[in-house]
Amino acid sequence: MTSQITIRRPDDWHVHLRDGEMLKAVVGYTARQFARAIVMPNLTPPVVNVAAGEAYRQRILDSLPAGSDFTPLMVAYLTDDADPEEIARGYEQGVFAACKLYPAHATTNSAHGVTDIRKLTGLLETMQRIGMPLLIHGEVTDREIDIFDREAVFVEQVLGPLVRDYPGLKIVLEHITTAEAAAFVEASGPLIGATITPQHLIINRNAIFDGGIRPHAYCLPVAKRERHRLAVRKAAVSGSPKFFLGTDSAPHAIGRKEAACGCAGIFNAPFALESYAKVFDEEGVLDRLEGFASEHGPRFYGLPLNEGTVTLKREEVTVPEVIAEGDLRIVPFHAGETLQWRLVD
Ligand code: DOR
Ligand code: ZN
Repeated sequence: MTSQITIRRPDDWHVHLRDGEMLKAVVGYTARQFARAIVMPNLTPPVVNVAAGEAYRQRILDSLPAGSDFTPLMVAYLTDDADPEEIARGYEQGVFAACKLYPAHATTNSAHGVTDIRKLTGLLETMQRIGMPLLIHGEVTDREIDIFDREAVFVEQVLGPLVRDYPGLKIVLEHITTAEAAAFVEASGPLIGATITPQHLIINRNAIFDGGIRPHAYCLPVAKRERHRLAVRKAAVSGSPKFFLGTDSAPHAIGRKEAACGCAGIFNAPFALESYAKVFDEEGVLDRLEGFASEHGPRFYGLPLNEGTVTLKREEVTVPEVIAEGDLRIVPFHAGETLQWRLVD
C-alpha cells in the first residue's frame, strides 16, 4: 500500500477567502496547501472593477501568515452593466484572471449578478477575443424549478446555447454536481472545463438530512443524489484534463449556518488536499491526483505549472469539530471525522 505521495504543488481554482476578520482567519489554510487560488469576488459590495480587484488582492496579501508563498488570482464579478473595456483592462494589466458569472440570486451575495446572459453580449465577445475565461455558477434561478434540477436545466438551457454562440470562449463550469454537467463538459471541446469540490465527491444529498437537518452539509449547488456523486467522481478521477481542483471552500461563522435560514457554503480549506486524496485513494488512482490538483488547472488557464512539491502521508488525522480563530468559530468539512491522509508541513 502506498504510504506517502509527493505531488507538484497544487492550486485551488475556486475559493472564497472573504474579507476582514474572516479573511484573516481562513486565508492561511488555503495558502498552506496551494500556491495559487482563484478568489471569488462575491464580497459586499462585489469586486466589479479593476480598482476593487487590486485593493482586494492587497488585503489578501496583507492577511497572509508570515512566510506564506501564495498568489491570489483575482476575478471580476459580472453585473448586467459590466463594462467590457474595464474588464479587458483588468485582464490585460494582470489584475483579473477571469470573470465570474453569478445568475442573479443564485447563491450567497449574488443579488448584483446577471439577470439575463443576453445583457453580456458585448462583454462576452471581448472576453472571447482576448482569451479571458468565464467562470460560471451554473444554476437557473427560476423558483419553479426544483432545486435539485437547477444545474441540469442550466446546462441545457443556458450553457449549451452559450457554447454554441461563443465557440472561442474559455468557460469553466464551477463546482459541478450532476451527471449532466460532467457529460456536457466531457463532450465539449478543450475550451470547456469544470472544477470539482471535495464535498461533491464525498457526500450526496442524504448528508443534508442525516437524522435531522445538517446545515454544515449545505452548499450551492446543493449535493445531489448518489448517481450524480458517482458521475462527478468518475469525471474527477478519469485523468481528463477538463476536470480540475476547485474547493469552493466557503466559510460562514457557525451562527450563520446554524440558523432558521442558514447560509450555503462548506468550509473545506483546512483539510482539502486530505479530502481529495481520500477520494483518489478509494478509487485506486492516487497517481492521478497530481494531474487533477496541480496540472489540469494551470494548463487550462494557460499558466505555468508550480515549482516545488507537497507530500501527503498515510497517517490518521482527526478533523476538529470547530475551528476557532479569534472570535470566529467555523465548522469545517469532515468535522469530527478521522481522515487517512495528512499533509506534511
Ligand atoms: O455554497 C456556496 N457558498 N455556494 C456559492 O455559490 C457561494 C458560496 C458562498 O459564498 O458562501
Ligand atoms: Zn463558490
